[in-house]
Amino acid sequence: MSGQTLDALALEAAELVAAAKKLVVFTGAGISTESGIPDFRSPGGIWSRFDPEDFTYQKFTTDPEARRKQWRMLGEGHLTTDAQPNPAHYAIAELDRLGKLDCVITQNVDNLHHKAGVPVEKVFELHGNVQWAVCLSCGRRYPFEHIKARLEGGEEIPECEQCRGMLKPDAVLFGEALPQEVLQEASQRSSDCDLFIVVGSTLVVYPAAYMPLYAVRGGARLIIVNLSDTPMDAQADVLIRAKAGEAMSRIVERVREKITG
Ligand code: APR
Repeated sequence: MSGQTLDALALEAAELVAAAKKLVVFTGAGISTESGIPDFRSPGGIWSRFDPEDFTYQKFTTDPEARRKQWRMLGEGHLTTDAQPNPAHYAIAELDRLGKLDCVITQNVDNLHHKAGVPVEKVFELHGNVQWAVCLSCGRRYPFEHIKARLEGGEEIPECEQCRGMLKPDAVLFGEALPQEVLQEASQRSSDCDLFIVVGSTLVVYPAAYMPLYAVRGGARLIIVNLSDTPMDAQADVLIRAKAGEAMSRIVERVREKITG
């Protein structure tokens, strides 16, 4: 996208942000690729190297080989826990500091919105978070770093140290229920907002992908920042085909100018 077009679109988006009373930002894996974390469906993404069939809750809980693959993927840092936020994450945190952010609803499990400074009560993680592993038998939770050290020490399928039960990353697997209270709150916020910004998602995985639908149905304006097309592109008031870091930084720069004069 040419610099001029991006500037014009960023200005249009900034006008909507400045006027918004309740802004919800919805993010997917595309916001974290500039932090070095691959997304899922771009060429070379995670589902081109791992079979999503191996990442269902059913397989994880019944097939030790699937557990071995999942822990190997996590251990190799594919959803790495030591990545750092990029300018797109920081731009969203600045929207909060400018008093413009109602909340962030994310499909990501990488904790980067927290690391960028968005208050924890304003981040709704629909698909959980890989900062923790939980025992499916006794419920004990372990910081992922602790489990990662065990994986690096050669363990392949870590079990609970308390009861030897099955450990699972605290991220939601395919076929697993999303955390109900998070989903409920995120759905309500999406329906109540007056501006909804999608950053870095194909919008093909449900129920997460219902959020922009709820927003538009509730009368909100829609901005999409994404490198490839999505099923919601036709409903977008502003559609920006550009990298999230660049686009979000320019939008927030314009918002700051408008708000602080
Ligand atoms: N800037 C803007 N867009 C980007 C960037 C970037 N730097 N990098 C990638 N993208 C876009 C891609 O073009 C793609 O459209 O981000 C989107 C990422 O889409 P997916 O890989 O499908 O990720 P996501 O939408 O978050 O997937 C949803 O699927 O596999 C499950 O649970 C997993 O939460 C994930 C869910």
